Amino acid sequence: MSDALIEELRAALGERGVLLQPEDRVRYEQGWRYGDGVARCVARPATTDEVAAALRICARHGTRVVPQGANTGLVAASTPDTSGEMVVLSLERCNRTIELDERDRTVLVDGGVLLSQLNERLAEHGMWFPVDLGADPQVGGMVATNTGGTRLLKYGDVRHNLLGVEVVLGDGRVVSQLNRLRKNNTGLDVKHLFCGTTGVFGVVTRAVLQVAPKPAQRATALVGCRDGDAVLALLGAVEQHLGDVLSAFEVIGREALDAVLRHQPELRRPFDELPDYAVLVELSTTLPAGSLELDDVLEERLGAHLEEAGDAIADVLIGSSDEFWQLRHHISESLRSDGRMLAFDVSVPRSSLPAFTARVRDLLAAEHAFVRLCDYGHWGDGGSHLNLLWNDGDVADEAAFKAALQDRIYELAVREFAGSYSAEHGIGPHNQRFYDSYTDPAVKRLCSVLGVHCDPNRVLGTARLY
Ligand code: LAC
Ligand code: ZN
Repeated sequence: MSDALIEELRAALGERGVLLQPEDRVRYEQGWRYGDGVARCVARPATTDEVAAALRICARHGTRVVPQGANTGLVAASTPDTSGEMVVLSLERCNRTIELDERDRTVLVDGGVLLSQLNERLAEHGMWFPVDLGADPQVGGMVATNTGGTRLLKYGDVRHNLLGVEVVLGDGRVVSQLNRLRKNNTGLDVKHLFCGTTGVFGVVTRAVLQVAPKPAQRATALVGCRDGDAVLALLGAVEQHLGDVLSAFEVIGREALDAVLRHQPELRRPFDELPDYAVLVELSTTLPAGSLELDDVLEERLGAHLEEAGDAIADVLIGSSDEFWQLRHHISESLRSDGRMLAFDVSVPRSSLPAFTARVRDLLAAEHAFVRLCDYGHWGDGGSHLNLLWNDGDVADEAAFKAALQDRIYELAVREFAGSYSAEHGIGPHNQRFYDSYTDPAVKRLCSVLGVHCDPNRVLGTARLY
């Protein structure tokens, strides 16, 4: 294989900017949950100009490139395929700029800055970027995926908080639309082409985000619910009465909570008997405790709901925010070490969540009784993470088994329940087949027109949107 590509990348990015050895590449080649490939090399540009130079070189050689942030994605979109020919373009060294404008409440940030770094800086000014999740992604990756997370209910997803972007197109041209305005209705808002499109139209090198004041107080409860309908009734009640201060409504199914407690022995068991669903309800406000006691408000409202709902509510625990969030944020990791697994990130109209989940349960019971269904998710926005688990040796041909399960469950979610096969994790090799079958051909044609312009040599990304 010619090394001209590597030599040109080295000349443009310096020695530190190109990793070739297998032991150096390995952490860029394996995704957190899915994705396990081989890269030709890892390119680590440190500036937008270097990103542009790297893409010009790859485009000239016709070499495919997978842009990569913190590699925390869950659809294998940020890792190379197994050909050994793709270049991983890591943004990790593009991480210097975090420019906050306090008055505007906006921040200009490099694509390679980690969410934790951004929040550390914002905290010095009493602010935060409220798109909250269990992982620590980079900002560019969050934009490319349009991350949702646990507080979407109150703050929206990344798209909702994104004001401007700078991107490098597939052939190295730079598009700088670092808009800082909240209102700007002057034609095509081009940043949206790069948000949620998983890096196939361009690499996000900088973004302008709106940021939020940090709440002055939070109150958190864990509510044990008898079934999914009880969860929906609780959701209705807290939205109706506490909607202004409701910031999370996270649901944990019994099997998921059980797995967390088995794998994280340091975490305290919240209920003697685990309920079908434990709901983490969080209120938060910038009002200081002197003017409104959020704990009291929550306790009073949940007390009233308990009276109305009767034995649909098994238990109400008001208390340690940290402890409850620890349970929530350890689910993914606990399930990962609980057996063989296939994960789904689906959404349906939230009123259908109990019926949809029951259909999946019935389907598994009838056809694959050895599979355990662990469900949890963001019921406030209709999102459900269904994790299917089985033991080593239960299944002979695992690839075929997983593909068949995906076919059945996505069909149920998308066709029968008018839902989405990817609610918040985006598109990548893990779910490409379903993008192919469920996306309107007219949308694919539009993507193709945009792709011809944005990535003329068709080198960018692992997903195929057209
Ligand atoms: C979560 C990830 C899996 O909600 O989206 O934990
Ligand atoms: Zn999630």
